[in-house]
Amino acid sequence: MTTKLTPLSERSAWKALGAHHQKIQGTPLSQLFADDPARGERFTVETGGIFLDYSKNRITDETLKLLIQLAEESGLKARIEAMFRGDKINITENRAVLHVALRAPKGESIVVDGEDVVPPVHAVLDKMAGFADRVRSGEWKGHTGKRIRNVINIGIGGSDLGPVMAYEALKHYSQRDINFRFVSNVDGTDFAEAVQDLKADETLFLVASKTFTTLETMTNAHSARDWSLAGLGGDEKAVAKHFVAISTNAKEVSKFGIDTANMFEFWDWVGGRYSMDSAIGLSTMIAIGPDNFRAMLDGFHQMDVHFRTTPFEKNLPVLLGLLTVWYTDFFDAQTVAILPYEQYLKRFPAYLQQLTMESNGKHVTLDGTHVETETGPIYWGEPGTNGQHSFYQLIHQGTRLIPCDFIGFYKTLNPLGRHHDMLMANVFAQAEALAFGKTAEQVKAEGTPDWLVPHRVFEGNRPSNTILAEKLTPEVLGKLIALYEHSVFTQGTIWSIDSFDQWGVELGKVLAQRIIGELESATEPTLTHDTSTTNLIKRYRKNK
Ligand code: F6P
Repeated sequence: MTTKLTPLSERSAWKALGAHHQKIQGTPLSQLFADDPARGERFTVETGGIFLDYSKNRITDETLKLLIQLAEESGLKARIEAMFRGDKINITENRAVLHVALRAPKGESIVVDGEDVVPPVHAVLDKMAGFADRVRSGEWKGHTGKRIRNVINIGIGGSDLGPVMAYEALKHYSQRDINFRFVSNVDGTDFAEAVQDLKADETLFLVASKTFTTLETMTNAHSARDWSLAGLGGDEKAVAKHFVAISTNAKEVSKFGIDTANMFEFWDWVGGRYSMDSAIGLSTMIAIGPDNFRAMLDGFHQMDVHFRTTPFEKNLPVLLGLLTVWYTDFFDAQTVAILPYEQYLKRFPAYLQQLTMESNGKHVTLDGTHVETETGPIYWGEPGTNGQHSFYQLIHQGTRLIPCDFIGFYKTLNPLGRHHDMLMANVFAQAEALAFGKTAEQVKAEGTPDWLVPHRVFEGNRPSNTILAEKLTPEVLGKLIALYEHSVFTQGTIWSIDSFDQWGVELGKVLAQRIIGELESATEPTLTHDTSTTNLIKRYRKNK
């Protein structure tokens, strides 16, 4: 079912933004800062210890006013309410979108199809906590009576990227006498390397899959079962002590041979890429303990409340989302770079890639028509300072406009001499260099020969956000993730797309199923693909 929407190009704020862009696109950031001595303090906003400096963006007060007007005309307020209320805003799958319910405190109520979903959320959290405590304390024993020393999460996409990212991000808080590993790829190397130095009697597998039908995950889970049974004398009863499932699909879990008593449930109103704070986060909870996990949920929730209740002009996710629309649609920016200056956040850009691109990589609006503008940009990044010695050259002097999000902390979790001041000096220096650059006059004044001057000029005028917080705690991680979740929501609302389906991943899955048969067939298969695919398959069959 679809409702007719006002096309983006017909929204008055959109038209005004087009004209406004023409007017200000030539104004450099240096000019904007010179014109307003208070800009660096004014264009900032803070909530719950997350500070956003968005002053180094190519915007004026008028830009902000128009972007906020655009959010209003696009019905952002009503859509936020619809999500929090549990309306089925994922229209192509006819589902509610309620990752916010995963962190709703006890006592709140969100009703979906006549059921309040908050009590079951807390029941699962309690069950996870009981299990995590038993594994952490050694009370949970493997089949031979040994305690668990290795926890391996098997999952892919949202059932992997969130858990890996959160484990890496919160390693400082983790129990160090348990190894955590993550297997996702159907490439057998992933599994083989994950277990090559482990003993089956000390290893627990968490099979994480919303559907419990995903090719990669089920293939890895079967290999894990074979590996476990081989190491445990082939006794089928061992599975109960070495495998638990995290899924919405109890039927498939039983079919695999995991007792549903060892299943941690979640629900179809949790999207895969929005699920790391559901039971999918069981590995995170085992690593950091239930109290830290709950602190993370509290961080998520604080950002949810901020998003829902704060006027747009002070609303971090709304501002972040609107700025992304501004660059994507008016400056033709193709990408956004995520640059965390925190080693523990090394997998954060990879996590955000699924969150942002699977959500907003769409070309059809909610009413089924083709979008009129560019939608979801490409998100990418690496932790600083490593990126500085690799791709920053292009950001500083290349021909593309790449808005950057710098993320840094006042305090490090690993104080070591002068390291942290050096790290943070680089955050501020990079953002400054990008914004203000270095003119030919400045380069010449340094005694640079004329022929070399153009090579050493930095045009500047390259936008960035700087996000700062005290230190990386579970609570702060929750806030950061929710910040980006809701920024994605804001962008999707402006573009009138369904940010919660992912039909674009289906075709390749179906074709692969057919080709698997063709690769494995004992007799020569009749191939009816295009000539390139047919030729590649034949070549593989001959040489494998
Ligand atoms: O292929 C895309 C996808 O459906 C993602 O959206 C999802 O996170 C991932 O596959 C894994 O799905 P599942 O948790 O059902 O195994």
